[in-house]
Amino acid sequence: MPDIRCIGIATGGGDAPGLNAVIRAATKAAILKYGWKVIGIPDGFDGLIWPEKAFELTLKEVSGILPRGGTILGTTNRGDPFHYKKTENGKEVQRDISCKVITNAAKLGIDAVISIGGDGSQKIAYELFKKGMKIVGVPKTIDNDLSATDVTFGFDTALHTVTDAIDKIHTTAESHHRVMVVEVMGRDCGWIALEAGIAGGAHVILIPEIPFTIEYICRIIKERTKQGKDFTIVVVAEGVKLPPELKENRRMSAVGNLIGGAIAKASRKEVRISVLGHIQRGGTPTPFDRVLGTRFGVAAVDLIAAGGFGMMVALRGDSIVSVDVAHAIGHLKSVNPNGEIVRAARAIGIGFGD
Ligand code: F6P
Repeated sequence: MPDIRCIGIATGGGDAPGLNAVIRAATKAAILKYGWKVIGIPDGFDGLIWPEKAFELTLKEVSGILPRGGTILGTTNRGDPFHYKKTENGKEVQRDISCKVITNAAKLGIDAVISIGGDGSQKIAYELFKKGMKIVGVPKTIDNDLSATDVTFGFDTALHTVTDAIDKIHTTAESHHRVMVVEVMGRDCGWIALEAGIAGGAHVILIPEIPFTIEYICRIIKERTKQGKDFTIVVVAEGVKLPPELKENRRMSAVGNLIGGAIAKASRKEVRISVLGHIQRGGTPTPFDRVLGTRFGVAAVDLIAAGGFGMMVALRGDSIVSVDVAHAIGHLKSVNPNGEIVRAARAIGIGFGD
């Protein structure tokens, strides 16, 4: 059993609903179950560059935060102590300040750190672990793209937000007989598009894992019109691979705009585009994300107590397990184009553009 008296908690990468549930659960378990002191590290590991900004997380401090989106600790998806960007002599340079971060954690009396973050944050956490910092990880991302865990918290809330948006877009699409293109987040994986698309009754779902053509989408639109359904909902994942004719414009516009424009040109239909953007990361977490966040927070504290440093908590089936961070990072969980969910969607007539 390691000698632990004080732990730090940091949230890194893009925020996700449920972060505060993890912070609250970890703080409560550390104080109530183990009698440890808890320090909140602001803005990911950046918070250890300026240790004076760190503050104690007490039971009072975490009271009432369970239903709140975002993170009370703040976060950044640009901070990396191994490649810290600063300006020297008017020039931007990168410096490795990881030793400073480790020293500052020790100065604060922090014996171990819970790093809550996605793939990028866990990579940094693993590098710090290799340099001697006692770290355990908690996986987070609305994209649900980490292979080490069945689900990440934040994904379920994002699905609710996107499904609600598609439901609303549905009624106006039907009234105006339009093609509506809805662009959603998800980075290089199509989970949000796939699951919210199915839940929202989309007719076409475009994901990075399945190549598509504009002609195919237009065929679906035509078919639907023939059947008397003069409107179509196309859900597009932001990371979708564009067909060659659209590729060169990728940098100029959101993919939803490019695809919507191409559909309008080829189908001569009226098309409208909604890029949902960061509303997908906000809002109060769903009960599922609150419960998963709570289980992860408690499990992370138990992992520290057991000396499981360099490990990350994960959900496998119904159980919370711990996995080696070294094996967990760098493996994206993509949608299987021949998997059961895609096949179920195809079976009910949803097109993937291929
Ligand atoms: O990883 C979460 C995520 O919301 C992605 O879905 C999206 O591509 C990205 O972060 C957006 O990041 P930013 O907040 O820097 O715009």
